[in-house]
Order: sequence, then C-alpha cells, then structure tokens
Amino acid sequence: MRGYKPKILCIAQQKGGVCKTTSVLSLSAAWALEGKKVLMLDTDPQANLTRNILDYEKLKKDISLLYKGKQSIKSIIHKTPYKNLFIVPTRTALNRIENLERTLSTFNALKKALPQVAKIYDYVVIDTPPSLGLFTISALLAATHVLVPVQPTFFCQEGLGDLNETIKEARESNPGLISVRYFITLYDKRTVISQDLTETLRSQLGSMVFKTIIHRNIAVEESQYAQRTIFDYAPRSRGAADFKALAKEVEQWLENAS
Ligand SMILES: Nc1ncnc2c1ncn2[C@@H]1O[C@H](COP(=O)(O)OP(=O)(O)OP(=O)(O)O)[C@@H](O)[C@H]1O
Ligand SMILES: [Mg+2]
Repeated sequence: MRGYKPKILCIAQQKGGVCKTTSVLSLSAAWALEGKKVLMLDTDPQANLTRNILDYEKLKKDISLLYKGKQSIKSIIHKTPYKNLFIVPTRTALNRIENLERTLSTFNALKKALPQVAKIYDYVVIDTPPSLGLFTISALLAATHVLVPVQPTFFCQEGLGDLNETIKEARESNPGLISVRYFITLYDKRTVISQDLTETLRSQLGSMVFKTIIHRNIAVEESQYAQRTIFDYAPRSRGAADFKALAKEVEQWLENAS
C-alpha cells in the first residue's frame, strides 16, 4: 500500500449559486483527466451535481441510505460517463432526512463511511448545500480540506464569518481537518466592483486565496445544460482553462498541506 493520507475535499459556502457544484464537477473532472481516481459525493438535496452527470430518473440508490445507516458506501457508488470519475448521488428525498433524522449518527455518517473507500480514490470531493445545516456539517466532520468559493459581489463577505465559525467548531470534533482555502469565482472583468472586491478579499485573506480566478463564462453554464463536463463540452473555453489552472493549484495544496 502506498504511503497514505486521505484527501477529502469539501466545497462549502452557505450562499447559494456561487459555483460550489460547478467547482466540484470541474475540479474532479480535471483530476480524472490527469489519471487520478476521483469520487464525488452529492450531499445537496437539490441534487444538481447528480443531475449534471447521471440520469436522475433512473437512480435507485442514493446517499440517503448512507445517512440512514442502511447501506455501505461501496454499494451506492455509481460510475459516470467519464473515466476515473465516480459519484455517490442524491435525490431530493434527502430533504426528509434533514427534517427527521438529525441524530449524532447522521451527522457522523460520512466520517464513518469515507475511510472505507478513501484508499481506493486519490481524491474524494464533497458538494454541499447552500446552508450550514446537517449536510454541510456532516461533510466538514469528514473532510481533510475545505475550499470556499467567493463571488466578488457586494454581499460576498456576508456569511463568511458564520462559515468560519462552523469550520472552527467542526475542527474540535475533526482533528483531521487540515486547512481552508478560498477562490474567487463568477468574476466579471467588465465591472469595477468585481476588481475592487477581489482586491479587498485578497488583502484580508492573503495567501489563503488561490491565485486562479474563475471568470464568468457562458460555456460553463451551457456545459451543465448539456450534462457534460466543461473539458468535454468546450475544451478550449475560458472556463476550461480557468478550472484546469485552479485544479493544479488545489492539487498542490492537497498534496502539500499537512
Ligand atoms: N464560471 C461560470 N460562468 C458562468 N456561469 C457559471 C459559472 N460557474 C457557475 N455558473 C452557473 O451559475 C449557476 C450556479 O452555479 P452552481 O450551481 O455551481 O452554484 P452552487 O453554489 O452550487 O449553487 P447552490 O448553492 O444552489 O447549490 C449555475 O447555473 C451554473 O451553471
Ligand atoms: Mg450546488
């Protein structure tokens, strides 16, 4: 067995529509193309990640079985159309778990399950909902690294404090949580506000913000509509280049942070 440290990356931000799901899919797809074996987990009852890559109507098993303790993680891992890229999908029925099963074992379900498979994959990447509820907390309790997308809009810093507090609390029960990084997303170079807020964020968070910026690029949105990865749909697009660069930076962090 290789010298082994699990790499479990949670992408979190309670603000909605800031590119969490897009980043989970695009970073995972970039690594899969490089030959890394990647497992994505969809913990968002909206099931956007699942719908982006699988035939949602045909799904029989999903992550709710794991939260309920009814099935092992291995039995709910699905192949995707892409080599090296796997997913534990979700269905919107997951909402019921948030309401009915807020027990300690539900909060700890991922933390308990992931060590069973983490050795098989180079990276596990977890998508989370736009809230700091059960599913985001359960992902933070299992993660080794947390990546936070920040959109440079007037409200971009709203909620970052709450998220940081939640990460701090998760760390108390999860000493394996090594480090947190941020990246700028949905950047619109035509607006002064995008530039100003990006500078402000960099001056506040310094080297915790990755150099790569994910620009607003229509091909990214179109690729999701076409249920393909950005590298498959528009390999020469700005979006593909941005995510490839970000994947490189994040990979260095995952491999070196300890
Ligand atoms: N770089 C980009 N350029 C253009 N559109 C983008 C880009 N990244 C994401 N989008 C679009 O923005 C929308 C929100 O993205 P996404 O679903 O990834 O956000 P999210 O943070 O996961 O949202 P939620 O909080 O609802 O889960 C989607 O329609 C997506 O296609
Ligand atoms: Mg999402």
